[in-house]
Amino acid sequence: MKTVALTRALPIDDPAALLDLELPHPGQPSGHDLLVQVRAVSVNPVDTKQRRAARADDAPPRVLGFDAAGVVEAVGPEVTAFAPGDEVYYAGDVTRPGCNAQWQHVDARVVGRMPTTLDFADAAALPLTTLTAWELLFDRMRLYFDDCRHRGQTLLVIGGAGGVGSMAIQLARHAGFTVVATASRPASVDWCRRMGAQHVIDHHQPLPPQLQALGISAVNVALNLADTDAYWDVLGELMAPQGHVGLIVEPRGPLRIGDPYKAKCISLHWEFMFARARFGTADMVEQHRILNRVASLVDAGELRSTANGTLGAINAANLREAHRQLEAGSVIGKLTLAGWE
Ligand SMILES: NC(=O)c1ccc[n+]([C@@H]2O[C@H](COP(=O)([O-])OP(=O)(O)OC[C@H]3O[C@@H](n4cnc5c(N)ncnc54)[C@H](OP(=O)(O)O)[C@@H]3O)[C@@H](O)[C@H]2O)c1
Repeated sequence: MKTVALTRALPIDDPAALLDLELPHPGQPSGHDLLVQVRAVSVNPVDTKQRRAARADDAPPRVLGFDAAGVVEAVGPEVTAFAPGDEVYYAGDVTRPGCNAQWQHVDARVVGRMPTTLDFADAAALPLTTLTAWELLFDRMRLYFDDCRHRGQTLLVIGGAGGVGSMAIQLARHAGFTVVATASRPASVDWCRRMGAQHVIDHHQPLPPQLQALGISAVNVALNLADTDAYWDVLGELMAPQGHVGLIVEPRGPLRIGDPYKAKCISLHWEFMFARARFGTADMVEQHRILNRVASLVDAGELRSTANGTLGAINAANLREAHRQLEAGSVIGKLTLAGWE
């Protein structure tokens, strides 16, 4: 089958950084696995980090890709939620071969039914970033998605126009928050507003005076989706007492968790989207439920795809371009690729 794989850890401007490779078909699925024919994929910073990670010279080719939409071709004996022909979307498991392949095995417990109102490319834009934002807000922080219960509270999204930020803005608005997003360019400012942010401030300028100019003296919830170290001190300053800070990016160095975090009783919440699949947690089927729920919300017009441009077919040249854009840190929403021609 056709795949895009890496054999060596190389910078993205090297044409061999990602290669078009023929690899064996994965075969019939066992256990909880589905065999999915991949129709479209999206690309995430995790792909670029995995591509750059050190690897042994004799390691087998590695297929990346952790956002897919496709069609179920076969199901393992323990699968009850899907049947051949179902259209599905999922992020999958970073410890297994990824979706940059014509066929892939994926555990059905982390797969959702695809929204009926989206095509494969627009659906592939959603799973990884949506699971990240949803799990952070509603599983880790235990905030409330329904009933606009957070009306009157302020939520700050640092990195609002990125893949995770684009969905976090939408989910937080649905939950009733006043959402302030950060963005630094006219196009990313405009995108944050289209995702639903009521206010957009510039993360290249000091944040406190910009919030004060909006009449906001403190924020109840902050999602640092860009740089854990860089915003640590300013978030300690900005948080309201008993507030919540969400983190998704590995820090580069030690962080001082005492005052003002202690004095204000600030709760810290880590989210790692692959934790459930990686550790096979007893509740890993929650990702199936989240993706099904999100599909219904998309079909009802309450959430929208964050897809923002396609790079063409799934091949090494187009995926190298996707990695290049992600490494530049300037992607707005999600990039997608579809088809294998
Ligand atoms: N833990 C997890 O489960 C998990 C899941 C998903 C992602 N992540 C990580 O979270 C990070 C964000 O992922 P993503 O997919 O949202 O990335 P992305 O789509 O590549 O984010 C791009 C956006 O980041 C903004 N940005 C760049 N530098 C920034 C800075 N210094 N401060 C604030 N915003 C900045 C840019 O906005 P402007 O153009 O407006 O400057 C750009 O729109 C990555 O490190 C990724 O690996 C972790």
